[in-house]
Amino acid sequence: MSSEEIYLNYKGLMFPKETHSLESLEFAQEFKFKDEDVMAVVYPKSGTIWMQEILPLLLNGGDLTPIHTIPNWDRVPWLEEKRLALLVDKMASPRAMVTHFPYQLMPPSFHTSKAKVIYVMRNPKDILVSSYYFHKMAAFLEDPRTFDEFVDTFLEGKVLFGKWTDHVKGWKSAELGNRLMYITYEEMVQDLPAALRQMSDFLGRNLSEDTIQKIAEHCSFKTMKTNKMSNFSLVPKMYMDADKSPFLRKGVLGDWKNHFNSEQLAKFTSAIRKDLDSESFSLPWNL
Ligand code: A3P
Repeated sequence: MSSEEIYLNYKGLMFPKETHSLESLEFAQEFKFKDEDVMAVVYPKSGTIWMQEILPLLLNGGDLTPIHTIPNWDRVPWLEEKRLALLVDKMASPRAMVTHFPYQLMPPSFHTSKAKVIYVMRNPKDILVSSYYFHKMAAFLEDPRTFDEFVDTFLEGKVLFGKWTDHVKGWKSAELGNRLMYITYEEMVQDLPAALRQMSDFLGRNLSEDTIQKIAEHCSFKTMKTNKMSNFSLVPKMYMDADKSPFLRKGVLGDWKNHFNSEQLAKFTSAIRKDLDSESFSLPWNL
């Protein structure tokens, strides 16, 4: 299938038609945020489904019922996907959602609400690798061709939700005050309980250490990989083929070292640096 058949272009960005429609994107623009809403904003392949596991547990004090009974896409729906319209009336407050939207696509009601946001960032080299395998396993995405070609595709921003650098720039300069917290995938991998404590405090939950430890155990890569409500095994193989690559693939830091050659690394680093050049913020990794 051609790129035009697979993707919908909306406001200059690419969305897979299988999961997004013009109606769902317009629904997102009209969406009415409430002050109690909680949103994880995550560029694709940076830990979105991880946040779909974490948020309900932080918000409900560690009750495992939702993560054991509701698939991740219905448990913490995507703001931009088709299913939100079906779920919205049934969602209890505080509503937890995720989005891959860049800042400029957030709906007007988001800006006037007090909804809280956790922005998750990941090393873009590991994002690229994760995305490459995702494109191989997901039939609703374009074939990534060779890794070398995919490096160019990624740097040109011809991927879902556009350039990583634009996404980070937009959200890093968002003026949302104490409604917004930043965390990295790397911090979460290195010390999940510490990351959970930070998120819990940000959300005003102040959970006990026992609850934090329990949540960390149930949100570990190993546990999530066997949770059929979170590992996408409920999705028919014709859409997502875990034999080609499991969705919960490795869950580690630095897998890029097994994929990039020196030329690709030099090209990648210089392109990302160039795109971020005038930005005053620092990144938590060496590029
Ligand atoms: P890898 O492909 O590097 O393994 P998203 O949900 O945004 O698409 O991100 C998917 C990436 O997050 C995958 O990375 C996946 O393995 C990783 N991931 C999901 N849950 C995780 C967890 N509990 N611990 C570590 N990584 C996790």
